[in-house]
Amino acid sequence: MSVLPSIPLLKLAEEATRQFAERFGRVPSLVAAAPGRVNLIGGHVDYNDGIVLPLAIDRYTVVAGDSNDSSTATLYSNDRHDECLTIQLDRPMAPQSDGWGNYARGVIAGFQQAGLVVPGHDAVIVSSVPIGGGLSSSASLEVALATLLEGLSKQMLDPKQKALLCQQAEHEFAGVPCGVMDQITAVFGQADQLVKIDCRSLDVELVPWDSQEVAILILNTHTAHQLPDGQYGLRRQQCTTALKKLGHDSWRDVTAGELDAKAGMLDEQELRRARHVVTEIQRSQLAVEAIKDRDWPLVGQQLFDSHESLRENFQVSCPELDLLVDEARRMGIPGGVYGMRMTGAGFGGCTVALVNPQRLDDVIDPLQTEFRHRFGRLPTAMVSRPSRGTHLIVSP
Ligand code: GLA
Repeated sequence: MSVLPSIPLLKLAEEATRQFAERFGRVPSLVAAAPGRVNLIGGHVDYNDGIVLPLAIDRYTVVAGDSNDSSTATLYSNDRHDECLTIQLDRPMAPQSDGWGNYARGVIAGFQQAGLVVPGHDAVIVSSVPIGGGLSSSASLEVALATLLEGLSKQMLDPKQKALLCQQAEHEFAGVPCGVMDQITAVFGQADQLVKIDCRSLDVELVPWDSQEVAILILNTHTAHQLPDGQYGLRRQQCTTALKKLGHDSWRDVTAGELDAKAGMLDEQELRRARHVVTEIQRSQLAVEAIKDRDWPLVGQQLFDSHESLRENFQVSCPELDLLVDEARRMGIPGGVYGMRMTGAGFGGCTVALVNPQRLDDVIDPLQTEFRHRFGRLPTAMVSRPSRGTHLIVSP
């Protein structure tokens, strides 16, 4: 069995501190961390007023920083192309072509728009969240930077405002019209708690998770299909159009029965998207109750059904994800798997599964073997428990 171990957070903080000292010749005054996330259920419903059930994972982006008495931010990231960027804080922020720097510009712009002063600073970023693997490396970077800026400026944001500010950074500076799930999870995550988000009211409820009874297995397919750009935005648009045609303002007000009755009002694609959204919201609600009842077979079934709907109705899966889920379904509870589905935006990235903790080897081995046989490479396996959201590791 090949499982990617998680790097302890303190080790990451030490590494960021070491790199900071090497680059800037002094010790950082603050080290901020924010986790990646995996979404157990509620695929593509965070921007559709749905219920989602993610958890913060034990993989973090860590930023070591210090004020520098200037009007510039100097940011260095080894993971992101070994690049050092300089951002002028006294000029209007605008997206540029250097990729990851836009996350920082977006967060800085959010602080400035909220009327907060962003002091000049130096920072070094290290991360154990796989970049581009669908585990929200970008949200963890945005939120870690926001936590650092709170510390450096000694101005705290309301936690929800902080998540929304980071989401806006992603929309306006990275050009991704994402929902708010990733950023809320990075802010609100807690050890051994799932983060249930009602995306209509933005209410957050922590749902206790017992890692002794069931393990959370993440498999990274290391696939990012080069599909035509904008599939995510297109799905979002199709959902908005379908909702309008159904005469509603929120997907929470659309029942499966009503959708059947009004099916003729939608074109074929819109109907598929609508079926996914309506049923996925139901599945998420059911899964939350089943988790509280510790009914793992029922929770697992929701995951399998979610995958099926994401594949057939929302059409965001791909052969790599399908192979893992099909194999997992074949193994089933006798083989140690309660359920599995794709997670994140889709077209590659990761699957998430609920597995009997005593059977992890029996589950991971055949899945990796089968995947390698078919695609010629090994999907990385990670076992994660719900972990703490963003926080300062070192404060002055
Ligand atoms: C991406 C987005 C999220 C969410 C998921 C799909 O991860 O960033 O907001 O929409 O896709 O569930």
